[in-house]
Amino acid sequence: MWIFWAAVIVFIVVEGALIYIVFRYRRRPGDGLPKQTHGNTKIEIAWTLAPAIVLAVVAVPTVTTLIDLSGAPPDNALHVRAIGHQWWFEFEYPEQGVTTANELHVPVGRPVSVTLESKDVIHSFWIPKVVGKVDMVPNHVNRLPTFIIPEDSPGMYLGQCAELCGTAHALMKFRVIAETTEEFENWVQLQNEPGKPPSTELQQMGYDLFIGKGSCLACHTIEGTIAQSKTGPDLTHFGSRTSLGAGVVENTPDNLALWLDHPDNLKPGTIMASNAIIYRDPSQGLNDSEIESLVAYLKGLK
Ligand code: CUA
Repeated sequence: MWIFWAAVIVFIVVEGALIYIVFRYRRRPGDGLPKQTHGNTKIEIAWTLAPAIVLAVVAVPTVTTLIDLSGAPPDNALHVRAIGHQWWFEFEYPEQGVTTANELHVPVGRPVSVTLESKDVIHSFWIPKVVGKVDMVPNHVNRLPTFIIPEDSPGMYLGQCAELCGTAHALMKFRVIAETTEEFENWVQLQNEPGKPPSTELQQMGYDLFIGKGSCLACHTIEGTIAQSKTGPDLTHFGSRTSLGAGVVENTPDNLALWLDHPDNLKPGTIMASNAIIYRDPSQGLNDSEIESLVAYLKGLK
């Protein structure tokens, strides 16, 4: 704000002088050629020194703020590791032992410190309404400035990858879910449980597909099952997430069915489509009842 008001004063002085001079010395009928001059040492020194002084003064709060932002997070900060993948975000809470994807749960009123990494190419982590963007660089750990979501502003904040990272860059989104400390603790507790076992016949069929013909386990983890691959998002509590495909659509049964049928239609370029064997060989594809059972099983993973 300090710099904003300094800029407002400079703007008014410069534009005011410009408009005054344009009117005061405008060309009038009968004017001959104006007096021709070349150079004015005093004015040139003045208009070099004045901006230099203004910039030197503005540098003080700028640099101080930059140093503050890059300082160590406070002791009570919540630590999160965010890892960029083509094209989704992995979130790990080392102190809570939680791994999830595309939805960053944070308690309101508590400082949050996010470290940023990448598994493949350069991504950029951006929550426009909360904190400025910082790159996620392979083989290098960056840190987002520590942020706090105010106690009176719980809710959902949209996040977006802000660095062109391939086909589905524009659809590499995430959500920040800011909730009360109690809600956050409950969420952590739920996330620490293994994936809910199938409880209906339909869900059992979905589970069998997940670890069998569907080959979903080749890329995904569901804790408590033999599916332990880290290539794609952890699905242990997929049913508790609000969106799917990294924030592309709401996590409804209909959208999930569309996604399982042809993820590429919802998210062109997604690696799920090109990797899953079922999409290479149409005869191996999932039929409608198989999709229905997978939806029942995955939605049950609260
Ligand atoms: Cu990741 Cu753009």
